[in-house]
Amino acid sequence: MKIDLIIKNIGKLVTMQGSFFPRVGREMNELDIIEDAYIAVSSGEIYEVGTGDGYLKLVDEHTKVDDANGLLVTPGLIDSHTHLIHGGSRENEFSKKLNGVPYIQILQEGGGILSTVNSTKNATFDELYNKAKKSLDRMLEFGVTTVEEKSGYGLELETEIKQLEVAHKLDKNHPVDLVHTFLGAHAIPQEYKGNNEAYIKILVEEMMPKVKELGLAEFCDVFCEEGVFSVEESEYILSKAKELGFKLKIHADEIVPIGGAELAARLGCVSADHLMAASDQGLQDICKNNVIANILPGTSFNLNKKSADGRKMIDMDVPVSLSSDYNPGSCPSENLQFVMQLGCLNLKMTPNEVLTAVTINAAHCIDRANEIGSIEVGKKADIAIFDAPNLEYLMYHFGINHIDRVYKEGKLVVDNKHVVY
Ligand code: NIG
Ligand code: FE
Repeated sequence: MKIDLIIKNIGKLVTMQGSFFPRVGREMNELDIIEDAYIAVSSGEIYEVGTGDGYLKLVDEHTKVDDANGLLVTPGLIDSHTHLIHGGSRENEFSKKLNGVPYIQILQEGGGILSTVNSTKNATFDELYNKAKKSLDRMLEFGVTTVEEKSGYGLELETEIKQLEVAHKLDKNHPVDLVHTFLGAHAIPQEYKGNNEAYIKILVEEMMPKVKELGLAEFCDVFCEEGVFSVEESEYILSKAKELGFKLKIHADEIVPIGGAELAARLGCVSADHLMAASDQGLQDICKNNVIANILPGTSFNLNKKSADGRKMIDMDVPVSLSSDYNPGSCPSENLQFVMQLGCLNLKMTPNEVLTAVTINAAHCIDRANEIGSIEVGKKADIAIFDAPNLEYLMYHFGINHIDRVYKEGKLVVDNKHVVY
């Protein structure tokens, strides 16, 4: 066996190993942390994890040996909910927002998501590609090695496909792996205002089958919210998506508790995302049905709203993941480390629980736990080296980028905080 890479002298290695199911309750906090560790990599995969100079037997003239200098090492971070591909930005709505105009009101007045729909329609393929690449580089520089991305700024077939094709090209060319979600049910397009039924018919009968046929998305998602898609409409759309073979996600109970979490449980969604306003019944339902609660603390922070109750969910044994929701409206930031710090500061999660939520539980959230989310033999060698002595420090010293180096499938892609691929 040819060993391509050894990362030696790891001060603390958090492996997240042994999680065939999403971690819940106390498991989220009880981590395996190996001191004075090394990782051996062969053909982009983890070959062995050990301690001290046990790696010496594996080294030959082809092996690159990298010194972690006693730093903290974790699995590459996973951002399991983003709206990566979009045209334009929405700083023009910023002062409205600061003056207290609600997010949904801005949308109902033709701004918000609908404004980004216009910018995305007007952007060329290359413009969308270059803008998203810049964001993806930033995410990678923060230690993120896999990203879920959603369409939803076309609301008609051509632009939805353009968004997804941009994402597929990026997936091919960029070191970060992308997982694709179709979110044609992100808003009712302006020309169908007051005529939801007509748009939903096109969505279900034309758009979803085409996206499936082209193999452009693995998941289907709906923005289930008062004034956007009702529970009944969301149930119809997601049931049809299930019949077509999509795995399911849902933007649920972000603003008003309308029963999105309950619906996620009924349909067997892989994740229910947001949940700031979810009812206790909804949380019990998703817990019973193993739906992952994907909490987005950056969005609550940016909308100046109370975060979803991560502490309560973990105490109820709901599997929790955290992600950025990076988008031009409610979370214009690619910084998953800041989201993690909010997980501690606003959700009262422990640093260990937060790391679980952005590694192995996030991997389950995008159905990739067989290949990423932990450092164990046979998984992808996606590795983050932080310029920090321990996890507590990572969460406590907030608002900066702690990354030192990142490896993606055994290849050095970030060095000294900057992309080098
Ligand atoms: O997850 N809430 C719905 N969709 C996104 C925001 C999209 C936007 O405002 O452009 C979210 O927060
Ligand atoms: Fe979102």
